[in-house]
Amino acid sequence: MRLLVTGGAGFIGSEFVRGWLRSDPAAHVTVLDALTYSGVEHNLASVAHRPGFRFVRGDVCDPDVVDQVTAGQDAVVHFAAESHVDRSIEGAGPFVRTNVVGTQVLLDAAVRHRVGRFVQVSTDEVYGSIGEGSWTEEWPLAPSSPYSATKSAADLLALAYHRTHGLDVVITRCTNNYGPHQFPEKVIPLFITHLIDGRAVPLYGDGRHIRDWLYVSDHCRGIELALRGGRPGEVYHIGGGTEVSNHELTGLLLDAVGAGWDRVTRVADRKGHDLRYSLDDSKIREQLGYAPQVPFAVGLAATVDWYRENRRWWEPLKAGAERV
Ligand SMILES: NC(=O)c1ccc[n+]([C@@H]2O[C@H](COP(=O)([O-])OP(=O)(O)OC[C@H]3O[C@@H](n4cnc5c(N)ncnc54)[C@H](O)[C@@H]3O)[C@@H](O)[C@H]2O)c1
Repeated sequence: MRLLVTGGAGFIGSEFVRGWLRSDPAAHVTVLDALTYSGVEHNLASVAHRPGFRFVRGDVCDPDVVDQVTAGQDAVVHFAAESHVDRSIEGAGPFVRTNVVGTQVLLDAAVRHRVGRFVQVSTDEVYGSIGEGSWTEEWPLAPSSPYSATKSAADLLALAYHRTHGLDVVITRCTNNYGPHQFPEKVIPLFITHLIDGRAVPLYGDGRHIRDWLYVSDHCRGIELALRGGRPGEVYHIGGGTEVSNHELTGLLLDAVGAGWDRVTRVADRKGHDLRYSLDDSKIREQLGYAPQVPFAVGLAATVDWYRENRRWWEPLKAGAERV
């Protein structure tokens, strides 16, 4: 299968590409990535020498480059996005551009070149917040942040291209990911790297917000199942089964580095902060055989170890982000 992976230099996209080429070293993978602040080409260094691997630096909103890289592909896995909620609150423009317009440009190219399958990688945040129970795939979209609103728009566009043009679209919606190579602005790598450096960590509000955490390689396994076996026009939830409040998460990370609660600073809550996310992922479990493999305690310990051992990866990224 000839694969185009957008956003393949980012956290989840690079994990997907490394895993794909590890399991099939002869596979053909083209990565299209603009290398924005969160894209790191070195994330792909371990597979860059593979004969079937090609890296193209380019923008998903650029119809010419998208047209060139989409020609001849069997499938597209679309990760490229602006992905940080706090940044979307400060300014929604780049989110609308990349997440909505970029998806439309890719969908048009996929139709034109008769791509066999288009996987839209999406998020549980499109549903807003849920007090009790879990969302099924039929739940109405009610996004709270500009980030999740643009992901919702992209999902609806992808489904519309399926209905209108017959494009073989599959959408995956996943819970919060964690693991190595995550840009140190997201809560887990931000807290780990602050704590390693002896700094205090900022906890939003009262810390009662609940997220369902999934190790990044489990997310990528779910995406591969959907890519290979998902039904056209369908949405699949990829869940973690580990609901943890931000307060509990902070306690676990403090323990992991041997620090106490005196290293926690309470900060004003994020505007429009969703209280709880929870996905019902029985569809992908029953229909495609998905099951997460990495227990939260194991994945979290591995993640803390990775950030301890890879200061050279995160320090310049963090310094750059803090200078802005
Ligand atoms: N991180 C999570 O917890 C999570 C959970 C569910 C879904 N998702 C989705 O997974 C996808 C990847 O998220 P991530 O956490 O790896 O994000 P990330 O920010 O680490 O990576 C995004 C990548 O996209 C690239 N990119 C951004 N704008 C681009 C553009 N205009 N053209 C080409 N490339 C561009 C960046 O350079 C970067 O390499 C996103 O679509 C996100 O919505 C993320």
